Amino acid sequence: MKILLTGSKGQLGREIQIAGINAGLDIISMDLPEIDITDDRKLDMIFSELKPSIVINAAAYTAVDLAEKQKNICYAVNANGPANLTQLCGKNNARLIHISTDYVFDGKNNTPYRENDPVSPVNVYGHSKAEGEKAVLEGPGQHIIIRTSWLYGRYGNNFVKTMLRLGQEKKSIGVVNDQYGCPTCAYDLAEVIIFIVKCFLEGKSNNSDIYHYCGKGVATWYEFAVSIFQIVADLGLSNVPSVMPITTSQFPTAAKRPLYTVLDCFEIKKNFGVEPKPWKQSLKKTIQQIVDSQGRNF
Ligand SMILES: NC(=O)c1ccc[n+]([C@@H]2O[C@H](COP(=O)([O-])OP(=O)(O)OC[C@H]3O[C@@H](n4cnc5c(N)ncnc54)[C@H](OP(=O)(O)O)[C@@H]3O)[C@@H](O)[C@H]2O)c1
Repeated sequence: MKILLTGSKGQLGREIQIAGINAGLDIISMDLPEIDITDDRKLDMIFSELKPSIVINAAAYTAVDLAEKQKNICYAVNANGPANLTQLCGKNNARLIHISTDYVFDGKNNTPYRENDPVSPVNVYGHSKAEGEKAVLEGPGQHIIIRTSWLYGRYGNNFVKTMLRLGQEKKSIGVVNDQYGCPTCAYDLAEVIIFIVKCFLEGKSNNSDIYHYCGKGVATWYEFAVSIFQIVADLGLSNVPSVMPITTSQFPTAAKRPLYTVLDCFEIKKNFGVEPKPWKQSLKKTIQQIVDSQGRNF
């Protein structure tokens, strides 16, 4: 059975490749320009040639603020892309594992979002991802969607790497303290995805549904930043700035952000026995990995 990964050069895609190797799986990993999920004709040719049984879609347009200006490309990748993959998976009897986001919610809850809560995105990126989910759920075949939140890891651009860099440049940093979410280590999520792939390969699951996976524990971006710099200090690295809590209104962005996107991971625990890992433990490991690979030059 062949496994195809799209978006393999992204922060999650790269971790899926590593988790796949660690689990002894042979994954065909592709990204732009060799695969473009918006190009249905070329995708059809790739499916005909490779005949994958399982497709993991980690490809996405993830520039949340730029998306407000680049609506067409954002919808093409996040809505049409999963629609194309779903149609081809349906036609070729393959199962799709599609990755989505907490930003499909409006953030007005004050208790964790369940998998079947209604989506109501507040920005273009969230809206495009919600359209992608709809296409997967309504398309042919049996597929699953895994929503995650506040992804960070050693690869690509993310909040942890931005903080580490700003820590080198500034003595004091203001960080938003009224948005709540669950920081999620990209490698932890990658391991979960690979575990689900294995369940599919072993015929242990025929579920087609929405699941949530995020790190265990809730934080604001300010609390996330404080934890990052606490670890930096514990590791004896220089340049630990002071971190000041600020409000969303003091940090205007092109895209509106949902204020509360804590995800309840009930279904993934119930159906796959997956227990989310505490984000603070994974954060420590990730920062150590970043320091090991690039030294103190963040
Ligand atoms: N980052 C977060 O905080 C976060 C939070 C919640 C959910 N998620 C979701 O998690 C998933 C993985 O996110 P990530 O952070 O790993 O994203 P990422 O680092 O931006 O990676 C996405 C990858 O997809 C590629 N890609 C873009 N357009 C494509 C196309 N048309 N065809 C094929 N590949 C294409 C990108 O290539 P280029 O770089 O060349 O464009 C990139 O390599 C996404 O579904 C995202 O919505 C992310």
